[in-house]
Amino acid sequence: MKQPMAGLKNILVTGGAGYIGSHVCKELGKNGFNPVVFDRLEEGHREFVKWGPLEEGDLRDQSLLVDVMKKHEIDAVMHFASSIVVSESVVDPQKYYENNVSGSLSLLSAVRKTNIQFFVFSSTAAVYGMPVRVPIDEDHPKDPINPYGETKLLMENALRDYSRAYGLQSVALRYFNAAGADPEGELWEAHDPETHLIPNAVRAALDPAYTLKLFGNDYSTPDGTCIRDYIHVKDLARAHVAALKLLPGLNSFQAFNLGIGKGFSVLEVIRAVEQKFGKKVKVELAQRREGDPPVLLADSTLAKSKLGWSPEFETIESIVGTLRG
Ligand SMILES: NC(=O)c1ccc[n+]([C@@H]2O[C@H](COP(=O)([O-])OP(=O)(O)OC[C@H]3O[C@@H](n4cnc5c(N)ncnc54)[C@H](O)[C@@H]3O)[C@@H](O)[C@H]2O)c1
Repeated sequence: MKQPMAGLKNILVTGGAGYIGSHVCKELGKNGFNPVVFDRLEEGHREFVKWGPLEEGDLRDQSLLVDVMKKHEIDAVMHFASSIVVSESVVDPQKYYENNVSGSLSLLSAVRKTNIQFFVFSSTAAVYGMPVRVPIDEDHPKDPINPYGETKLLMENALRDYSRAYGLQSVALRYFNAAGADPEGELWEAHDPETHLIPNAVRAALDPAYTLKLFGNDYSTPDGTCIRDYIHVKDLARAHVAALKLLPGLNSFQAFNLGIGKGFSVLEVIRAVEQKFGKKVKVELAQRREGDPPVLLADSTLAKSKLGWSPEFETIESIVGTLRG
């Protein structure tokens, strides 16, 4: 096992029982860190917590957070816990402001009370809104078009202000479309409801009763379907470890895009799933969804240069290849 850098050992991982947080815990464990998961287990999975202790609780319980931080002598926080369904955020914004903003502010207060100086935040490409240019770099205008993206941008701004005023050193990682599963088969994507294309395409291949909805096939793309930048969850996990290593010398707030800079259309994803599982993906054409741009692509040059990170999974076949039915 590798040794972590001096001074950073115990990492509080909020939402560490969820899809991305659990994969990051595995990577932290492999790199000699001690990930302590804080999760309410409403959306997450107890069986995904394998690389350190689990503390059950809600972000809004600030005194519990402070106790947990003291008990485990936490050196840095990685904050994944959040409500994540874009469409739900449009019909129930209060849930999103309460969980993603009030919950995150409660966490930041606990961080200040316990004098923790390092923070990594799960942000999203949704902070940019409709792209005015692609690929999207970090300086692209931030103009979210749904409450989910709005709550993430608010928290990024809070982190920038906390860094200036209180010296909290923080990194926001703006993921594009997280995809794939642990190549060793110990973890996978398991949301309920599942709104993401790849797991739903797998379901439409394997479950005779399920049909995938294809939201529009008349976009201005080569095959008419939307193009997205899929970033493998293991590559995301590696970027988080790189961000932890950057933090002690950062002295500010910094945001990074995480994507592969290449896009795959919905039809290309479906073909890759069909190839992997040897079954047809049942598809039904549906109306375009409001706010879906034809193409979203990340420019991750900054992450490559400052984090010394680059993605290992660069084809849709290699990403889908890590899935098990
Ligand atoms: N999945 C993606 O493609 C994607 C893309 C961009 C950004 N993100 C961000 O990455 C993070 C993780 O996403 P995910 O796909 O792993 O989601 P997930 O739902 O699998 O995991 C979130 C975890 O947080 C926990 N949680 C939520 N609210 C909580 C609270 N108030 N207190 C304690 N625990 C709480 C849930 O129980 C769950 O285990 C989120 O912040 C999300 O916004 C995800």
